[in-house]
Amino acid sequence: MNKNFFLIEHPIVKRDVTILRDKNTDSENFRAALQRVSNILAVELSKEFKLTKTEVETPLETTQGAKLTHDVILVPVLRAGLGMVNGFLQIIPEAKVGHIGLQRDEETLKPVEYYYKVPKHLESAEVVMLDPMLATGGSASEALKYLKNRGASKLAFACLVAAPEGIEKIKTEHPDVKIFAAAMDRELNTKGYILPGLGDAGDRTFGTL
Ligand code: PRP
Ligand code: URA
Repeated sequence: MNKNFFLIEHPIVKRDVTILRDKNTDSENFRAALQRVSNILAVELSKEFKLTKTEVETPLETTQGAKLTHDVILVPVLRAGLGMVNGFLQIIPEAKVGHIGLQRDEETLKPVEYYYKVPKHLESAEVVMLDPMLATGGSASEALKYLKNRGASKLAFACLVAAPEGIEKIKTEHPDVKIFAAAMDRELNTKGYILPGLGDAGDRTFGTL
């Protein structure tokens, strides 16, 4: 559908997305499943990272190795994006972490910023934005604009569930950003919730239902 949209097809992801959708999954199991999916998203997304050759001394001899060319900066969109951070850090432990606080206004569905703290030198880093839900795309598009305004140019976006409306918005407004998703759903309802979706990801992660 879009050359910059990557749906991660993996049996463990499909199993875990089912757990995440299930209304009877409690916060403990929701967080655990989100972390496992984030591990796999991190592995898949980081296939795009550039490598620089390096030498490494084994106990026996010197050989060719590789290191990541660029620093990695993870940027969860608060709150729900926090549930993906540990899964990414398990795969890329050297990453720095910035935070963007955005909340959708329940009436207008427009994102409202309430927090921004991101490491320096975005311009030279692989910047990975994390948010489980891509619904209208308003929050993701706004957060990507902030990051670009502060210099980010190598940007990717990892999410759990993407709606066609949100994918289209990011494709139009940020054609340079690759989206990695664990599921692509059917549509949004009149309140901007993804169908079939999994409900409010922030509330389900933190038990604030
Ligand atoms: C959710 C989600 C995204 C946003 C997606 O956050 O985590 O940030 O909605 O919707 P959109 O694509 O239509 O903008 P929410 O505003 O509910 O805040 P929360 O994470 O604090 O619950
Ligand atoms: N945000 C959520 O948490 N869930 C949705 O379905 C849409 C936006």
